[in-house]
Amino acid sequence: MVSMKVIEQVSLMQSICNDALRPLVFVPTMGALHEGHASLISHARELAGTSGTVAVSIFLNPKQFNIAKDLEWYPRPFEADKALCQRTGVDLIFHPSVEEMYPCDTSIHVEENQLSQHLCGASRPGHFSGVVTVLTKLFNIVTPDRVLFGEKDWQQLVIARRLVWNLNFPTEVISHPTVREEDGLAMSSRNARLSLQDRSVASKIYEALRKTRTRTLEGESNVSALLESTRGDLESIPNSIIDYIEIVDEQTLQPLKKIIPSTTPARLLVAVKMGETRLIDNIGLTRMFHTDRDEKVAKLK
Ligand code: PAJ
Repeated sequence: MVSMKVIEQVSLMQSICNDALRPLVFVPTMGALHEGHASLISHARELAGTSGTVAVSIFLNPKQFNIAKDLEWYPRPFEADKALCQRTGVDLIFHPSVEEMYPCDTSIHVEENQLSQHLCGASRPGHFSGVVTVLTKLFNIVTPDRVLFGEKDWQQLVIARRLVWNLNFPTEVISHPTVREEDGLAMSSRNARLSLQDRSVASKIYEALRKTRTRTLEGESNVSALLESTRGDLESIPNSIIDYIEIVDEQTLQPLKKIIPSTTPARLLVAVKMGETRLIDNIGLTRMFHTDRDEKVAKLK
């Protein structure tokens, strides 16, 4: 195997990707990598095969942070990230500086004006503009055949698909199921910020989502009733403040009034604040689980 390369310059990354063996499969990240990221990268390795190329970007994108303290807090354990990439079979790490990605004469940004209006977009103004701007740049630099996104950030996944479709990037967006801790909490770099007490009850978020899924599969189709019972369950978690709870069409992200499984796959998305930490999670309400991993977590209940 050729050894893993770490590249910091945009022009060098562009020329290496231009000559890379195809398919080139890409996983964009902000670093502080955990087993959720590792699972995406291993999936990328499978898709690229032994002869293709796996590229991972590690770039803490300041443009998608609307709260300066959040960016300041974000961990940057680059050596540990490199080791995780090495063990999961990455060929190329793209690790540019902020100045390299956003030179001082940067004056063009990309915006999404529909899917980003609510859910996380409402409580984090400017966030998705920062995400689609950096993804546009990364897609132009890496030119991937396929790019992987986690279902954990469902709204981001849908927006990334729209970006590729609307701006005609010749790449395919692949989704990857949410990877969870043993107790069901979705893995996130932000979990490390939870107090011990908050961490011990944070798994109740996923319990609430699963309960609503069960009620839906048992036949409850009234969205207001489902939202109300989910709200009750989330409100009973000590020290939690609900940011949003919505049941939406999982492709268009438009809020639903009634669940009609045969026509519209529905998804429940929530954001909950515990102390300084904002946690997000989501669950499909109408579709069967489609991976071993989902089923494994399902058995935990
Ligand atoms: P980051 O939060 O580092 O996440 C990188 C990718 O890992 C995203 O596609 C995210 O959905 C996925 N991911 C994170 N935790 C996961 C989990 N528990 N299970 C499955 N997938 C998980 O998302 C970003 O970075 C940035 O917004 C980025 C797309 C890189 C643009 O800056």
